[in-house]
Amino acid sequence: MSLLTYGKYLKLRDLLACQELASEKAGRAAHDELLFIVTHQTYELWFKQCLHELDAVIALMGTDFVNERDVGRALHYLERVVAIQKVLLDQIDVLETMTPLDFLDFRNLLTPSSGFQSAQFRQIENKLGLRRTQRLRYNEADYEQALDAADRASVAAVERGANLFDVIEAWLARTPFVDSPDFDFWREYRANVTRMLDEDQATIEGKAQLSEAARRAQLAEFVRTRETFTSVFEPEQYEALRASGQRRLSYPAFLAALMIMLYRDEPILQNPFRLLTALVEVDQNLSMWRHRHALMVHRMIGAKIGTGGSSGEDYLRRTVEAHRVFLDLFNLSTFLIPRSMLPPLPLELREQLGFRWNA
Ligand code: HEM
Repeated sequence: MSLLTYGKYLKLRDLLACQELASEKAGRAAHDELLFIVTHQTYELWFKQCLHELDAVIALMGTDFVNERDVGRALHYLERVVAIQKVLLDQIDVLETMTPLDFLDFRNLLTPSSGFQSAQFRQIENKLGLRRTQRLRYNEADYEQALDAADRASVAAVERGANLFDVIEAWLARTPFVDSPDFDFWREYRANVTRMLDEDQATIEGKAQLSEAARRAQLAEFVRTRETFTSVFEPEQYEALRASGQRRLSYPAFLAALMIMLYRDEPILQNPFRLLTALVEVDQNLSMWRHRHALMVHRMIGAKIGTGGSSGEDYLRRTVEAHRVFLDLFNLSTFLIPRSMLPPLPLELREQLGFRWNA
């Protein structure tokens, strides 16, 4: 039996034989095509790793009862995804050492293939919880039309399966102390919010440097802020926002997420808080990648249409906003109030939320 070697373990012979230059086959090798292939292949390897981590997070958080230890592990895996995303963002710098003119040496040979056909990218989007209804259409067709039969099946299977958004939403909705018989948090929070908003309104009204028109505009804006806050206290108003697509989380999940953000200094809420923050980072990094990729596309091909046939840069730029998944978590900041205004927790509840050392 031959000993295991570095090359055998990593199947390097196979791996390093996977870079076939289309330009070489066409008889005019383009120097930068190797960089183009290596960059895309490394992306796909990292996508594979991200899917592996997301699967683990969904499995840990998707059970009927989530043990605190599992929250810590899920967080660890999510933080790894965040670290990988930073590498994915940096890889764009490497690819951009290829100039638009260098790209033209082989670009036409790639038609009609496109990153749009990356099945793993679609799987990541679906596993995160991007909804079909949110997706911008590509050439007036659903996204899977660009995939071959095998990829279409694998992407559809992921779309049907559990996704991170749903799993987190269900976990949040089960948070126990949001509605406690001994502590009417929402009544106290509402009173403090009203006080805070009254103070803000008085500041606008008293600003000497504002013109009358500017003051009226700011006060009109302020009425909207008050209405937004009301949606926290009135489930019907919240549901109306949800129906119009301005909220996605269920009402109980939203309240729990807000409580976690407000009381995150309580030891037991540390991991949930960090988990929600990691989800915000995952969403933010993906948006930043979409934006960087769109800029790179603009820089490389200008206003030409993509090899896959869409309006290229324009389509990609619009996905930055349209394809966000955890927008509700970003919007939680609207409802934060200063620590000094936070209703104090009853002692018993505080103790329950603390760490205990049983000697
Ligand atoms: C020279 C560099 C690149 C150019 C000019 C480029 C161009 C484009 C264009 C024009 C599209 C829109 C679809 C189409 O019509 O083809 C697209 C989509 C896409 N590309 Fe790239 N791309 C480049 C590099 C990359 C890299 C390194 C990746 C990494 C995997 C990538 C992944 C994707 C993905 C996932 C999509 C679909 C995005 C979505 O639908 O939201 N691209 N690309």
